[in-house]
Amino acid sequence: MPYSQKAKMILDKDFKIAEIDPRIYGSFIEHLGRAVYGGIYEPDHPLADEKGFRTDVAGLVKELNVPIVRYPGGNFVSGYNWEDGVGPRDKRPRRLDLAWKTVETNQVGVNEFVDWCKLVNSEVMMAVNLGTRGVDAARNLLEYCNHPEGTYWSDLRISHGYKEPHKIRTWCLGNEMDGPWQIGHKTAEEYGRLAVETAKAMKWVDPDIELVACGSSNTAMPTFPQWEATTLEHAYDEVDYISLHQYYGNPSNDTASYLAKSLDMDNFIKTVISTCDFIKAKKRSKKTINLSFDEWNVWYHSNDADKKIAPWLIAPPQLEDVYNFEDALLVGCMLITFLKHADRVKIACLAQLVNVIAPIRTENGGMSWKQTIFYPYLHASLYGRGVALNPVISSPKYDCAEFTDVPYLESAAVYNEENEEVTLFAVNRHLKEGLYLECDIRSFEDYQVLEHIVLEHDDLKAVNTADAERVKPHHQGNAELKDGILIAILPKSSWNVIRLKKSEGSPG
Ligand code: AHR
Repeated sequence: MPYSQKAKMILDKDFKIAEIDPRIYGSFIEHLGRAVYGGIYEPDHPLADEKGFRTDVAGLVKELNVPIVRYPGGNFVSGYNWEDGVGPRDKRPRRLDLAWKTVETNQVGVNEFVDWCKLVNSEVMMAVNLGTRGVDAARNLLEYCNHPEGTYWSDLRISHGYKEPHKIRTWCLGNEMDGPWQIGHKTAEEYGRLAVETAKAMKWVDPDIELVACGSSNTAMPTFPQWEATTLEHAYDEVDYISLHQYYGNPSNDTASYLAKSLDMDNFIKTVISTCDFIKAKKRSKKTINLSFDEWNVWYHSNDADKKIAPWLIAPPQLEDVYNFEDALLVGCMLITFLKHADRVKIACLAQLVNVIAPIRTENGGMSWKQTIFYPYLHASLYGRGVALNPVISSPKYDCAEFTDVPYLESAAVYNEENEEVTLFAVNRHLKEGLYLECDIRSFEDYQVLEHIVLEHDDLKAVNTADAERVKPHHQGNAELKDGILIAILPKSSWNVIRLKKSEGSPG
């Protein structure tokens, strides 16, 4: 047996973590760069539909099966007047967007975004402006969107051609309010007070909504995790989720450390869970606050290019990271991390969806294509639905500059009882050697390997472009079953999806 790296796993249908909330495969569209204009919306494009939406982009989003999309920001929302984006298009004002130093034309607003989400079979996750605005604008927007009829704002929506209420269920109370870069940045005390008062008013308008309070912008914030504790001291009873945001990069080209960054994410999640539960205990509450990891991704490739973009352009190419193969591996590790925390992470949004740090790229007037990170996101979204299982894993480990005891094998499993399928997601972090995996699937009798999908590439820095898709999965993985043991070689630095299905005709 030529493989010196061996990992073992036990998988059992009774080792349940939780039912996976499909919203962990959510994403995000911000009025930023070419996400909206030139991304989802480009009326002059040859493939645009009658509403101006690019059908090629909508097709790729549908392929990803994205259950929920956060909108309209991000930093943008903290200076946004939602009223600018409704009503006749020729009357909509152009405004300076101070967050990204661009000019916003408001040709797309709330109603168009709701239309687009219908087109791609997604739910809207709407953020309200708690930077320059507050309770009043938030409750008005909610009334405009969700109240059936017979009031100023609901009738205004109807007059804009939307008879039926949008019924938007999930709402974010601002964005990254702990960050000094945010328009209307606040202290935790200020934000906690504003969040609870906004939440109260919004739930009075529509008691069926769910609310996400802003947590920390990342783990390096000096106020983390006191921010979460203070916010929840104020808003615990009124909100349902606390948000987490985190982006990673590999600017020092230390891939061993880079691929281990999901361990940092894992710690982040654990700390926020502990903080929520600490406040729960203090309040003697029966309610549990869950987590909305509503911005996550790799973000660093475009930082230098962005510094060169002149201010006050309309939809300039901002944050257009070109993702390479190793980025896809980290994205895979991050998705696995969400599955491990399926009991508490109920929403997660890959930030973002089109052009801006995104799995989908477009040319204005031209092609659209899949970046490398498209694939782990696709596989997790398609096959990661059901119950998250907790496999018992023993894997060889490594130390690197930033972490110690990093398992070469990063893995999670999902059991879809209805389809009688089990899917194993696995990253081999080893940069030089394949990993020999032996997995005891004991309780999954009569299951057989349906397919073993592999994303691998000799060049960690390989990228996809409009002309060439260099990084794409193949289905030639060698997973096989021998006497109830699943055996597979996970190639060096690879993302693997091993799908098992109960044999037809076997007893139920
Ligand atoms: O997703 C890009 C930006 O990252 C968002 O606008 C902001 O919330 C975060 O800092």
